[in-house]
Amino acid sequence: MDTLIVDLKDRSYPIYIGAGCLREASLLVPRLAQPRVAVVTNTTVAPLYLEALTQALQAQGVEVVPIVIPDGEVYKEWKTLNTLFDALLEHRCERKTTVIALGGGVVGDLAGFAAATYLRGVPFIQIPTTLLAQVDSSVGGKTGINHPLGKNMIGAFYQPRAVIADPATLDTLPDRELSAGLAEVIKYGLIRDLPFLDWLEQHMAALVGRDHAALAYAIRRSCENKAAVVAADEREGGARALLNLGHTFGHAIEAGMGYGTWLHGEAVAAGTMLAARLSQHLGWLGAADVSRVAAILSAARLPVRAPDLGFERYLALMGLDKKVEGGRIRFVLLRRLGEAVLTAEVPEAALRAALAEGCRA
Ligand code: NAD
Ligand code: GLY
Repeated sequence: MDTLIVDLKDRSYPIYIGAGCLREASLLVPRLAQPRVAVVTNTTVAPLYLEALTQALQAQGVEVVPIVIPDGEVYKEWKTLNTLFDALLEHRCERKTTVIALGGGVVGDLAGFAAATYLRGVPFIQIPTTLLAQVDSSVGGKTGINHPLGKNMIGAFYQPRAVIADPATLDTLPDRELSAGLAEVIKYGLIRDLPFLDWLEQHMAALVGRDHAALAYAIRRSCENKAAVVAADEREGGARALLNLGHTFGHAIEAGMGYGTWLHGEAVAAGTMLAARLSQHLGWLGAADVSRVAAILSAARLPVRAPDLGFERYLALMGLDKKVEGGRIRFVLLRRLGEAVLTAEVPEAALRAALAEGCRA
């Protein structure tokens, strides 16, 4: 079992990483304020892991209230959030009842926002079961829901009390979802950890082949990167925005194609390629660098070609990005491989060229 700490002073918390740790209730119980929890999960994850978690908790004398929501990004919206509040109220969950998210990023974001707002905030624990959630969304306290006009537009920063990442749960994850998670793993290498990018290039076949040791290492290294960024800039005043490489384009792809059509990680991959091409047009990356980005994304079985939504539509959708400041779209770009920058200084011609190439490549 590996343990990392997200250092946020009196709100610091551990990330436990280890095969089988989902069943280790001893990791959870000391962090509960009362021996009662509400486990939020979905119709796909519940039959796989809810029983094991419930039994482990009940064996330690903890009462479990299960709350099962439908599966899908389209349900990451206020109506589902309201059903969580209904269930928490109907079961008379109290200020000391811990909300546990058991699932991928959708369950984590929704359950976290419910925990942040129910009774003005109740304790929260993340048990991520997708690669994307284990390397990114469960760490750092971003919670929230989508709005028809934009993704993740409504939410709160609300840190969990612990994150329990069990790589064995990835055995049941569909291939497409595993690849989507690898997009966020590759992101850490591109924005701040060049040695990790090298390692990923050498071990991508093992990761795609679900080698447990390789996956555990990639999760740990990703969480180390994320924890360091979050500790330095919890509320995204600066450096945390760099975690959004590929996301400005990616969120436009997700919204433009209709939520759920492209997986978040797939849209981030195609968006990362667009960001790399734009970086090349600004003179920061060379053609060999862009090819290297394309090669590693392809090796992870991710799309490198973006859908052709049209320049105006991309512009309109990206104008809703949370990083927009003073009406200007700000992009996370690559100054070089392993170093990201946030900039609004992007000539329209460069953006047009990057989109034209990226949508037809
Ligand atoms: P997801 O939650 O939709 O899960 C993907 C699919 O895998 C779902 O069908 C789910 O039911 C299924 N699943 C989950 N665990 C499984 C398992 N072990 N075995 C089999 N199937 C399993 O998608 P995701 O990629 O985990 O998360 C995407 C969401 O995360 C997006 O809404 C995105 O905006 C959000 N996100 C949030 C942050 C953050 O910092 N809060 C960061 C990145 C992404
Ligand atoms: N996924 C980006 C962040 O947590 O800031």
